[in-house]
Amino acid sequence: MDRKEIHSILEAALEKGREAIPDGEVASYIPELSKANKDHIGLSISTIDGRRFNIGDTDIRFTIQSISKIISLAVALEACGPDAVFAKVSMEPSGEAFNSLIDLDTDINKPRNPMINSGALTVASLLLPKVTFSEMKIFAKKLCMDPDMELDKAVYNSEKANISRNRAISYLLESKGIIENDVEDTLELYTKMCSLTVTAQSLANMGMILANDGIDPTSGTRLLKSETVHIIKTIMFTCGMYDGSGKFAVHVGIPTKSGVGGGLVSVVDKLMGIGVYSPSLDAKGNCIAGRPLLQHLSKELKLHIFERNNRM
Ligand code: DON
Repeated sequence: MDRKEIHSILEAALEKGREAIPDGEVASYIPELSKANKDHIGLSISTIDGRRFNIGDTDIRFTIQSISKIISLAVALEACGPDAVFAKVSMEPSGEAFNSLIDLDTDINKPRNPMINSGALTVASLLLPKVTFSEMKIFAKKLCMDPDMELDKAVYNSEKANISRNRAISYLLESKGIIENDVEDTLELYTKMCSLTVTAQSLANMGMILANDGIDPTSGTRLLKSETVHIIKTIMFTCGMYDGSGKFAVHVGIPTKSGVGGGLVSVVDKLMGIGVYSPSLDAKGNCIAGRPLLQHLSKELKLHIFERNNRM
């Protein structure tokens, strides 16, 4: 398929996404996020063999939010080892909202998975004695190939001023002996990671490095172990879209992680990363344009995990 043909498929996919925008809402429980322009939409692709496609609003900076849960999990797996991480957090889909604490209080003694807030707060607590936020930021910049990534202080302060729910989750985790390090420091690290800025392009780059088994294809540098990347991609597929993960897996079939800033990162294994930005969200907190957009791409380019037939 030549570049022009691919471009027209990407344009059509973007339009499919755009049609869904009016049905969603920009996040407002973190007040600063409500300033985003609901109509913005961008799609970026980075292929392992060096091709780059950018359509729409792919330069706009927004906060990574829950997509940072991938980065934190990756570092925790490498720093602590999978056994220590999964002693504290399970790897099962939750079927609950991303910020739920119901199960945690009534049924289970560890968070269902590292993609929901309770799981990611647990991971952040494991990271506390191992790395500083500034080391995490340096690593995140490498993984996204984005030297301009910074902490968005306005979003960080806005979330810190409205953090009661995550604080409740964290103290519940402490009461159950799951969080063993300082709770307030855990909340700070977690919230700072969520407040890092990215673009659709930086998310596509991160997806590409995960698609390439953790190796930056532009330099040949390995950033993550193969085992870590294998775990991350599997958990993205089963849990990355929260209680929308099953439907997304059937219709799109590409491991994907969302953030309430409006970002999505998708990994087409051995081929490419896809980054999407569109801050209008569905009721589950996932970018509402994401499913129709990626479903179109998946169908036209044959990217579904069980129907791969490389048309790129
Ligand atoms: O902890 C929170 O609620 C936010 N900082 C992140 C949540 C989020 O991104 C959910 N994803 N779609």
